[in-house]
Amino acid sequence: MTWNPTPPTEEVCFESLNKTLELGANFWNGGELYGSPENNSLHLLNKYFTKYPENADKVVLSIKGGLKPGTFIPDGSEENIRRSVDECIKVLDGKKKVDIFECARQDPNFTIEHTVEVLAQLIKEGKIGGIGLSEVNAETIRRAAKVHPIAAVEVEVSLWSTDIFENGVAQACAELNIPVVAYSPLGRGFLTGTLTSRSEIPEGDFRLLVPRFADENFEQNLKLVNEVTSLGSRKGLAPAQVALAWLLSLSNKPGMPTIIPIPGGTTVDKITQNLVGVKLLSDEELAEVDAVLKENAVAGGRY
Ligand SMILES: NC(=O)c1ccc[n+]([C@@H]2O[C@H](COP(=O)([O-])OP(=O)(O)OC[C@H]3O[C@@H](n4cnc5c(N)ncnc54)[C@H](OP(=O)(O)O)[C@@H]3O)[C@@H](O)[C@H]2O)c1
Repeated sequence: MTWNPTPPTEEVCFESLNKTLELGANFWNGGELYGSPENNSLHLLNKYFTKYPENADKVVLSIKGGLKPGTFIPDGSEENIRRSVDECIKVLDGKKKVDIFECARQDPNFTIEHTVEVLAQLIKEGKIGGIGLSEVNAETIRRAAKVHPIAAVEVEVSLWSTDIFENGVAQACAELNIPVVAYSPLGRGFLTGTLTSRSEIPEGDFRLLVPRFADENFEQNLKLVNEVTSLGSRKGLAPAQVALAWLLSLSNKPGMPTIIPIPGGTTVDKITQNLVGVKLLSDEELAEVDAVLKENAVAGGRY
């Protein structure tokens, strides 16, 4: 529900959240930045856990913050990290703990050691349960882990965002035994095969700003989706299921970290498709996917 310009009703959100939990997906990802300071994902979570208090302990909640309020500008000062954590706690109002807190982006004006020290202090104070990192490189992960154990590293990973397997992030996480939280695992919806042209993306949608969805790149990127769709149809999987099966199949292979995909989805139907019947890929099928990725280079950057 992150960047949806027309979010679903509370009733639909709650139904989807209940289905997610019922199907065993209990790692939930939210943030101060998902919405406005007055109405963001934490406000929705407050309402959800007020209605379903029995579910609070079943969910591991990972929350992003650490930006200047109402902006996407990182502010890694101790004052702002504390403000952000306190704000999240205030909005959740005791209905749910912040199990993991992560600064959405590392502020270049502060070292990662500083950020992790501040967060470690907040653990000691009982305000957060653990420390996550978001959109960081391998060196940052290694330096952070020297200061305090890191609970999760959240990075973009999908069939069209495979960088972590080449830039040392997957290797560092595997070595340090840190789970990778794979964000946008469906390529912000592109890999589900439901988009056939840029004109189908609604006005105000964040994807219109993403180079991969630009007119000049769309056609090239559809080639990858068509291959994924064809592989899926032979295995009885929808394209979204192939995208998720690929991540789950790589998870814990020798040299690989645990990978936890966090697909976004607003309806019970999509959530069910993403969580039920996702069959792991065989080594032959993984090799086939590798070949498809090599033959169909992705056009356009992630941001
Ligand atoms: N750390 C970071 O910087 C960062 C950045 C981006 C995202 N994230 C996290 O990652 C999560 C997921 O990423 P994301 O939402 O950007 O991208 P995503 O999970 O790759 O794709 C979500 C899109 O796919 C659609 N969808 C989901 N399942 C589908 C299915 N089975 N069939 C057809 N369409 C389907 C969703 O539709 P509807 O939503 O319309 O139902 C939505 O448009 C976010 O919620 C957020 O928590 C983190």
